[in-house]
Amino acid sequence: TQLLQTTILNEQFLKIDYSQYTSSVAAIHRHLEESKDELTGWLNTPLEDNQDLINSIQTIANEIKVNADVLIVIGIGGSYLGAKAIQDALTPYFGKQPNGIEVIYAGQNMSGAYIHQLLNSLEDKEVYINVISKSGSTMEPALAFRVLRQYMEERYGVSASERIIVTTDAEAGLLRDIAITHSYRQFVIPSNIGGRYSVLTPVGLLPIAVAGIDIKQLLDGAKEAAMLLKEGNLEQNEAYRYAVIRHALYSLGYKVELLASFEPALANFHDWWKQLFGESEGKDQKGLFPATVNYSTDLHAIGQFIQDGSPILFETLLHFHEITDDYQVPYDVRDEDRLNYLTNSSFNYINATSKQGTAIAHAEGGVPVIQLELEKLDAYHLGYLIYFFMKACAMSAYLIEVNPFDQPGVEAYKKKMLELLNA
Ligand code: PA5
Repeated sequence: TQLLQTTILNEQFLKIDYSQYTSSVAAIHRHLEESKDELTGWLNTPLEDNQDLINSIQTIANEIKVNADVLIVIGIGGSYLGAKAIQDALTPYFGKQPNGIEVIYAGQNMSGAYIHQLLNSLEDKEVYINVISKSGSTMEPALAFRVLRQYMEERYGVSASERIIVTTDAEAGLLRDIAITHSYRQFVIPSNIGGRYSVLTPVGLLPIAVAGIDIKQLLDGAKEAAMLLKEGNLEQNEAYRYAVIRHALYSLGYKVELLASFEPALANFHDWWKQLFGESEGKDQKGLFPATVNYSTDLHAIGQFIQDGSPILFETLLHFHEITDDYQVPYDVRDEDRLNYLTNSSFNYINATSKQGTAIAHAEGGVPVIQLELEKLDAYHLGYLIYFFMKACAMSAYLIEVNPFDQPGVEAYKKKMLELLNA
């Protein structure tokens, strides 16, 4: 049994003959499984024995938790989005995980106000830094690291080097050279895993562990997905089924996929998904535009457009049946707000009902609605979901005949910026 169910709500899109994809899916699956020289290392890492990696990450995470109040993760794109996604999905809305410390992010923007205010916020806190860059020379994190490294050296003197952990390529790059020169401890990003496919490597695992989240559970969930989704038969592979439905809708002229959920904690997970699909598929003038919405908030904003606007989008509703925390609507003898009919209903029940109503309304409005459902919002199911999306994404990109693992378009802005900066 799959841990995740993919269904399509609208009768007319259910009727599409998806079996027409069977042979192309099988061929792409073989290509993925057999590829040696591509960035497909992430396909099998969850199946390997990761206990030594988990132990070494836990050891450093424990050291950080004992000696610091805050970990600053420096990275951009695939070097931070996954960690932030998991951290925010599993951290209480107010406060932090009981087993974790505060994890904050830098190097994902070049706002002067952001870096200045971040420095000011460190005054009463003990600090560790985890700088993450596969290439080791990306401008945004490199600039933030320059500033924060100086801050650490001024504050901690020679012991600053014990508080800086570097996650970078095993063999090359400026960051690796810096780490060696200054004896910073290092974690390696496997050379056959690209940034946006790297959350289950030390890139994501160290910050996630420091935030107090069980990385073993996360990897176990990914392992379950890696086993279940190793199937090349479209009928039996939910990730491929999702990829094929997306492709069929894309071919029918729907050019935007809207990922939606009703749990605000998933907002950063949406951002991780958006980068994964956007950077993997959007090339050669092709690809679905990945957009995201957070409900209920966006139902009272962009919801109008989704229901009634230009018919360019389909919606993918992500739903977890069980959310750890909940609250019941209290009885109010006055009933001035006329809500007593909901007395003793749980908020999560009302929220799930709103999800159901939204899905039906959008489908009736002509919006194709895909539902992705998982049992529980926890590390295990998120590990599963991450792997599910990465595999679906690779399949999706190959279905439109683009390379899921490069990002040539990202270079254009860098080139112009460097010209303007007289680099
Ligand atoms: O998915 C990718 O490869 C990119 O988004 C990178 O993660 C991002 O550009 C950061 O690169 P680096 O880790 O080399 O600093």
